[in-house]
Amino acid sequence: MKLCMIGTGYVGLVSGVCFSDLGNDVICVDKDLNKINNLKKGIIPIYEPGLEELVLKNYKNKRLNFSTNLKDSVRKSDIIFICVGTPTKRNSNSADLSQVYAVGNEISKSINKFKIIINKSTVPVTTGDELEKIISKKVKKKYFSVVSNPEFLREGEAIRDFIYPDRIVIGSNDSKSQKILKNLYSPLISKGAKFISTQRRAAELIKYASNAFLATKISFINEIANLCEKTNIDVEDISIGIGLDKRIGSRFLRAGPSYGGSCFPKDTKAIVSTAEKFKTNLSIIKSVIRSNKKRSDLLSKRVNSILKNKIKNKIISFLGVTFKANTDDMRESSSLKLIPFLSKKGAKIKYYDPTGPKKEFKKLKNVQFSNSIKDSIKGSDIVIAHTEWNDFKSINFKRFSKNKKLIIYDMRNIYSPEKIKKLGFKYFGIGR
Ligand code: UDX
Repeated sequence: MKLCMIGTGYVGLVSGVCFSDLGNDVICVDKDLNKINNLKKGIIPIYEPGLEELVLKNYKNKRLNFSTNLKDSVRKSDIIFICVGTPTKRNSNSADLSQVYAVGNEISKSINKFKIIINKSTVPVTTGDELEKIISKKVKKKYFSVVSNPEFLREGEAIRDFIYPDRIVIGSNDSKSQKILKNLYSPLISKGAKFISTQRRAAELIKYASNAFLATKISFINEIANLCEKTNIDVEDISIGIGLDKRIGSRFLRAGPSYGGSCFPKDTKAIVSTAEKFKTNLSIIKSVIRSNKKRSDLLSKRVNSILKNKIKNKIISFLGVTFKANTDDMRESSSLKLIPFLSKKGAKIKYYDPTGPKKEFKKLKNVQFSNSIKDSIKGSDIVIAHTEWNDFKSINFKRFSKNKKLIIYDMRNIYSPEKIKKLGFKYFGIGR
């Protein structure tokens, strides 16, 4: 099939590349000429394991192309995916849909035959209705169909999530489009992905409700971890003990710092805001947002108490600063609160991240990037394992540090407390 992805951000690029790898002809469109030129040279704008190889392979065999010409790309395609950003509006919690609607308007000028227009951007319920209205100002309804097909890709695992999704959700009010899209996704369905056809509005809400539920699960275990710390219980045992109940499930029950990234913080706020428009109070999600916001303060206080209120001049080593492993994304990472707090209190911070130094810390006093794990740990008073990269899981602390009083604060519970204690170091984890 001939596909066009509008927006080569995370969702558009990963989905476009994977669709081309499944044998479709795909044009990835973006108005950023520099980005498009780079992509043609195989320079990838995001860090995502496995993506570069797939881009090179499919660009070479001509199933994948890149363009800044939206009009021409839409004309050549049967299915158009809208994959532009829907950030939180300034001074409000709702999603800014201006890019989605602007693209809808552009598409409407280029429709020359029947097109399926799919919204893959995360959008509030009724956005599809609005998009349909915009396009129908210029195009007769029989020439297009607006569909919602939310994505559930995790950064760092996006390619695997695309190829082996738990489910594919198609929200459409017309059966012709449902059939065509089932066919498009048939290689994934035959590998075991469940295919769900639903109303367009329902598909829009499935996306927000999924992310809000996962954020709730994480905040829930984080709060249970707080209780575990007071009662001398290991929260890892609780995660296993409750996760084995099939009604609960074991995934997304890892206690840690506050959840971050480009989706959970934004989408939880947006669903609450949408619900308010429909006079519905989503009190549980509101309390999740509050709990997650408070979590960074709580962890800052914990570092303070581990260091016995003497943060000034302490050398603190951060291992990992991104919001999760296998990404270079800093959005809403808890390190953005922890590091400035500690630097303000007079600590000297050395941080190492496999994805390199971060512009967010450039202007902070006493915050320096280290070129290796060893450099970061050397001479420090406390090591904070902030992100769960595999690179950090088997560190020989004894070899890297001469400090006999070294403290390890394991914010992802990746180390065995017993082993660390056996080395003679002090160990603190989350909820243990
Ligand atoms: C998320 C959704 O998982 C994905 O389906 C959606 O489409 C986009 O948003 P992503 O933000 O890439 O994906 O990362 P995810 O793996 O979900 O983690 C989000 C945050 O939750 C991270 O800060 C992570 O560290 C945290 N998390 C996750 C936990 O603290 N504990 C867990 O058990 C899982």
